[in-house]
Amino acid sequence: MKKKIAIFTSGGDCAGLNAVMRAVVLSASRLGWEVLGIENGTAGLLDSPPAYRRLTPENFDNTVMRLGGTVLGTTNSRNPFEYKMADGKVLDRSDELIAAFKALEIDYVIGIGGDGSFRILNRLMKKGGLKFIGIPKTIDNDLNMTDYSVGFDTAVAVATEALDRLQPTAASHDRVMILEVMGRDAGHIALTAGIAGGADIILIPEIPYTVESVARKIAEVKAGGRNFALVMVSEAVKTPDGKKFEVVYHGGETRYGGIGEYLGVRIAQATNSETRVTVLGHVQRGASPTFNDRLLASALGVKAVDLLREEKFARMVAWHNMNVIDVPIEDAISECRTVSTGGVLVRTARALGISFGDA
Ligand code: F6P
Repeated sequence: MKKKIAIFTSGGDCAGLNAVMRAVVLSASRLGWEVLGIENGTAGLLDSPPAYRRLTPENFDNTVMRLGGTVLGTTNSRNPFEYKMADGKVLDRSDELIAAFKALEIDYVIGIGGDGSFRILNRLMKKGGLKFIGIPKTIDNDLNMTDYSVGFDTAVAVATEALDRLQPTAASHDRVMILEVMGRDAGHIALTAGIAGGADIILIPEIPYTVESVARKIAEVKAGGRNFALVMVSEAVKTPDGKKFEVVYHGGETRYGGIGEYLGVRIAQATNSETRVTVLGHVQRGASPTFNDRLLASALGVKAVDLLREEKFARMVAWHNMNVIDVPIEDAISECRTVSTGGVLVRTARALGISFGDA
């Protein structure tokens, strides 16, 4: 029987979202199913008239999957349970949203999101009795129960390339170069790209550090005959005494940012080195997806449609041990998956002589 899927991208964008939608649309169309793309997360359905469009294989003509961003648009600040209206009022618009899904006669809902989006969507889908599958995406790679989320690999590739680009200029000027990367409360991007890009020091929120220890490592690098050092720092790293760095944006939204500058000053003082800071920011999100992200997006998108065909709902598709599996959405959002401090990547880094600023 012909079914109708609603699909949307929710939360911060990342590379690979269009490739996920392509996989869902191509796979669903082979079953003769219809796919409606909702614009700007679920918020499009609260517009008047509702902002959505029919997605067909013709919309994914072999170019779109190569593009960063999301052709549907997204938002990480329009929670339907606490919806900020233009006049500043905050309203619960969840009933309106559920009614909008029902008015479109949607059979199934596929949300492409991270943990924040899935928490909200899970609540919404339960309240509305909607049949829902989640597809994990986040450059932070902090979703539980999946080895990888779409977007992480590309973000790591961008951060690694940034270290590749910082290295020659650091060497030309005898400098310490600090690279601040995203990742929210998890240090996965900093750790992975730090190893791949040859950082001397990697600071992540999961491992406490001291500036003295960082300075000792830089002195050691210089004593070994090298005239530069590369420091990778994750945005959620605090000062050694626990102060976090945040930027407050218009409307009161806060995001991490500023630890790189703090360290730049301290490291310059402690090592008497010329020190420069690069904040990579949203550059990590906007790239064309790597082949790994395209493959992951394809495998997860196809699996999501398979689950709907099998009438399995309230699940998140996941990548585990070179296979695609599905897990209860509740397990995926039960906790934030941070870096395992005894895990293989931390052990590998230590064995390479990379400092975490804790020795
Ligand atoms: O969760 C993805 C992420 O890019 C984080 O790494 C970062 O802290 C945050 O989103 C930035 O959010 P925004 O795009 O709202 O500035």
